[in-house]
Amino acid sequence: MSDEFARRDFLKKSAAAAAFAAPAVHSARGANGKINIGWIGAGTRGYHCIQVMAEANKDKVQVLSVCDTYQGNLNRGKDRIQTIWGNTPKTYVDYREVLADRNVDAVFIMTPEHLHYPMMLAALKAGKHVYVEKPLAHTIEEGAELVAAARKAGKVVQVGTQNRSSALYQRARQMVQEGMIGDCHYVRAFWYRNSPATNPAWRYSIPDDTTPENTDWDRFLGDAPKRPFDKRRYFQWRLYWDYSGGISTDLLVHQTDITNFVLGKTVPLTCMASGGIYRWTDPSDDRDVPDTLSAIYDYPDKFHLNYSCYFGNDHYGYGEQFCGNEGTIEVISRQDLHFYPQLLRGQASEKVKARREIHLNGMKDFGEPDGLRRHITNFIEAIRGNEKPVAPVEAGHQAAISGHMATQSFKSGKKVKWDEKAEKLVML
Ligand SMILES: NC(=O)c1ccc[n+]([C@@H]2O[C@H](COP(=O)([O-])OP(=O)(O)OC[C@H]3O[C@@H](n4cnc5c(N)ncnc54)[C@H](O)[C@@H]3O)[C@@H](O)[C@H]2O)c1
Repeated sequence: MSDEFARRDFLKKSAAAAAFAAPAVHSARGANGKINIGWIGAGTRGYHCIQVMAEANKDKVQVLSVCDTYQGNLNRGKDRIQTIWGNTPKTYVDYREVLADRNVDAVFIMTPEHLHYPMMLAALKAGKHVYVEKPLAHTIEEGAELVAAARKAGKVVQVGTQNRSSALYQRARQMVQEGMIGDCHYVRAFWYRNSPATNPAWRYSIPDDTTPENTDWDRFLGDAPKRPFDKRRYFQWRLYWDYSGGISTDLLVHQTDITNFVLGKTVPLTCMASGGIYRWTDPSDDRDVPDTLSAIYDYPDKFHLNYSCYFGNDHYGYGEQFCGNEGTIEVISRQDLHFYPQLLRGQASEKVKARREIHLNGMKDFGEPDGLRRHITNFIEAIRGNEKPVAPVEAGHQAAISGHMATQSFKSGKKVKWDEKAEKLVML
C-alpha cells in the first residue's frame, strides 16, 4: 500500500461500508436471540457456505433444518451442521417442509438456477428472510416477480453476488467516487478458464452411488421440461438451457453486478452477444451452452461494457478493468486490485501525475479470500437490524437482466434492447 489511500484504515472509514450500515427494521426471532436458519441445497456452494457462515456467525445462528434432493449431499450437510453447532438438524427432500416450520426465520437457497424462483417465492410468502444464490432467477419475468414479492413481504433479501462485500471492490468503488480514475465510459470484463481434455469444463464429478431413487429427479426438474432421469443433467445442470443460462448467468452476472456496484450503473440499454461451443466438442458431450461467449453492452449514459469468456485458455484469469480518462483500476481473480494513473506520456495534469500506483491483495491487506464471509455476515446483521443488505433483490435482478440479455442475444443472433418502461427485451 503506497499512496494517500493506503494510509487510511479502510475497513473502519470506508464510505461504502458506511453506506450499508444503516439499521433496518428486522429482528431475530429465535431462542437466545439466535436466527433460526433453514438450509436449502447442500451441494458444492451450499456446503461451502455453511462452513463460511459458521466462521463469522456461529454464535448468531442455529441451523434447524437442511434440505437436499440428493441423499449424499443431504447427509453431508446434516453432518457438517451437527459438527459445527452440535444440534441434529431436521432433514428434508421437499423444501416446502423447511418453509412450513414457523421457527425458521431465514433460508439460504443454494440450488440450481431454475429452482431459485419457486423456492424464493414460496419462502417470501412463508415470511422468511432469504439469501438466494445468483442469478436471482432463470428468466427476467421470474426476477421481476421476485422483486415485487420481496417488496411486499418486507423481508431481508441478499443475493449471492458476494463481490459487493469484498474489501477490494469496496475500495475500487471508493476510489471511483473520489475521482481517482476521472470519467469512466468503458469497462472490460473477462473470465477465462481451461482444463485438460479429460476434465471438460463444467462436467463436474457425479457421485458413484447416484441412482434415480437417491436424487429425486422430479423435484430437481421442478417446472423444467419433463424428461427421463439423467444424472449428467442433475449434477452438471449448468450445461443445459433448461436449468441454466450458462456463462451469462453463472459467471457474467458477477461481473455486470460488480460493474453496477463500482460505477453506480443498473441495466444496460442494448446487448449483442456471440460465441459457441468451440472447445468442448466431443460427440459424447451433449452440452447446450456455449464455452465461448462475448457480449458487448451499451448503457443509456454513454457507457460501454466489453465482456468475454472462454473455456480453452486461462492465461489472463478473470477480472474487471475500469478504464477512466485519468486512471485504471483492475481487480483480478478477486484477489488483486491495481490502480494505474493515466500519465498520457507525461502530459497528464499535475493532480494525476501526483497519484501513485497502488496494489492491494485481498488476503494480505484484508485477510479475506473473497467477499463471501462478509456477505453472509451482512445478511445476518441485516436480519438483526444492524445493517442493510449490500446485494438487495433489485441489484440481483438488474445483474441478472444483463445475463439474460446476453443469452437472448446469443440464441437469437440479434442485438437486444431493454425497454425499461415495459420491463421487457426487444429484439432489434
Ligand atoms: N456466488 C458464487 O460465487 C457461486 C459459486 C458457485 C455456485 N453458485 C450458485 O450456487 C447455486 C448452486 O450451485 P452449486 O455449484 O452448489 O450446484 P450443485 O449442483 O453442486 O448443488 C446443488 C444442490 O441442490 C440440490 N438440489 C437439486 N434440486 C433440489 C431441490 N428441488 N430441492 C433441494 N435441493 C435440490 C442438489 O442435490 C445439489 O446438492 C447456483 O445458483 C450457483 O449459480 C454461486
